[in-house]
Amino acid sequence: MSRNKKDWYRRMSFYQIWIRSFYDGNGDGIGDLYGVYEKLDYIRSLGVDGIWFSPIYPSPNADFGYDISDYKNIHPDYGDLAQFQKVLDKAHAIGLKVIMDLVVNHTSDEHPWFLESRKGKDNPYSDYYIWRDAPNNWNSLFEGKAWEYDPVRKQYYLHLFAKKQPDLNMDNPKVREEVKGILRFWLDLGVDGFREDVINFISKKEGLPDGIPFLPAANGLPYYKDGPHIHEYLAEFRKVCEEYDCFQVGEGPFTSVKSALKYLSGPTKSLDMMISFDHMMADCFLSEYIPRPFSLRKLKKAFSKWQYTLAGKAWNALYLENHDHPRVISRYGSEHLYWKESGKMLAVSYLFQQGTPFVYQGQEIGMTNIRLSSIDQYVDVVSIYNYHAFHQKDPEKKRMHRIHLASRDSARTPVQWDDSRYAGFSEHKPWFAVNPNYKKINVAAEEADPDSILAFYRKCLALRKHSKTLLYGTYREYFPKHDKLYVYERAYGEIRYLIICVFSHFPVKLQLPTVYAGKKGQLLLCNYPDPEGSENGMMRPYEARVYRFRVK
Ligand code: NOJ
Repeated sequence: MSRNKKDWYRRMSFYQIWIRSFYDGNGDGIGDLYGVYEKLDYIRSLGVDGIWFSPIYPSPNADFGYDISDYKNIHPDYGDLAQFQKVLDKAHAIGLKVIMDLVVNHTSDEHPWFLESRKGKDNPYSDYYIWRDAPNNWNSLFEGKAWEYDPVRKQYYLHLFAKKQPDLNMDNPKVREEVKGILRFWLDLGVDGFREDVINFISKKEGLPDGIPFLPAANGLPYYKDGPHIHEYLAEFRKVCEEYDCFQVGEGPFTSVKSALKYLSGPTKSLDMMISFDHMMADCFLSEYIPRPFSLRKLKKAFSKWQYTLAGKAWNALYLENHDHPRVISRYGSEHLYWKESGKMLAVSYLFQQGTPFVYQGQEIGMTNIRLSSIDQYVDVVSIYNYHAFHQKDPEKKRMHRIHLASRDSARTPVQWDDSRYAGFSEHKPWFAVNPNYKKINVAAEEADPDSILAFYRKCLALRKHSKTLLYGTYREYFPKHDKLYVYERAYGEIRYLIICVFSHFPVKLQLPTVYAGKKGQLLLCNYPDPEGSENGMMRPYEARVYRFRVK
């Protein structure tokens, strides 16, 4: 893989901000850019090198920012462009890059383009969206049918997500020019790149053929995922980005690693990294709403498939949490018995793979899922739709249990800064429920504890940043069939790192790959305070260890 001037992102790690719940700086109960400004030093102290902002643009919030009504401005709840510039300048001054969310598969139905487009066919915006006299059989990913009748235009518009998120018609060159204008606007302000929302969906197959009839969601997927013109359109956007020193990470729902390679390498390379989903399905089938027992083998298979397939050709985006998934300790770890151990072990399980890691706000202190008692207390469009649309005959307890397992709202509770009222997030009642565990799980408590999850994240991020082996070394997995241990190695020249993670509530016999037998490695990291505490070659529940070996 050739290295070029833009490879800075490979040495980096990012912190993701979902601003509404990050930190309230102006006392109205809503997180904002004033709050971000105050917390920039905290973010930098983690050892990350960049911030990804989930959308902070004006939005009616039908999908909390992913329904944009003005691409070139800041939501008044969060501040204004002047405050954004202040944040950006300070971020840069302390060594943090800033990337924005680019959401151009759809807009809000309150975007002026859509308001104009509704008016009818003789209008400069009439072909900005996908209008039809009769819908096909596609279902949306969020809210039932993918088509909504508009009484003004007397036609149906396509929305792959919520009703209030009409899909843009990317086949229209004017729409692509708008996208380029958005890129330029933010790049000229000084941002360093973009995370590109559902970017593999933006080109739809001509004629919009009917999809698989019996699937309740995403049945048109074969006709809009990696669509016919996707690489041409992305090449146009890439060209703009190349005028700047700009980094692009795409989000690719349902993308196979093979098709990801087309975006990430070779003549169609248009993105630097791809956010994949395979490893987020180790405890579910296709979506968290179809739960399955957690399978470590499934998780490892997904991790290794991406690591091996991209090796030497492209670069991975590494994550375990973001605003779209419930908290990972509550899923793949042990929320109650081994909260701290599993929180740290999960960090080790992904931060040392080859790629650029993302840490989601609150993940670094081990925040967990919230369990609100009634669906009326939830705000996420997907949670509400799924609750009402499916399993209506199940008892209420079971229906709520499913929401507790799957809801995106669990990742969107206010960040727990201290143990004061409202978890120190705001002095005002927050816009959304605070997790009641904030007295125990909060930044202030963990800052005071050298053995905290927070302290451990700092150690891991520093270790990765300063090791050529962890940054660039090759990846190899051992014992792929083991259902309690995840063992992987990173190798660069003579230096090898061996990473061992226990996914079990019970002790597990440590197994060392034969190449390491009899060799003395240096223990660099362990998630228990007494690394020597494991006895008779047994590893403790949710233990994680990182060894460094020199192998001739
Ligand atoms: C992916 C985003 O991460 C998610 O939050 C959003 O709801 C959908 N795309 C639609 O924009």
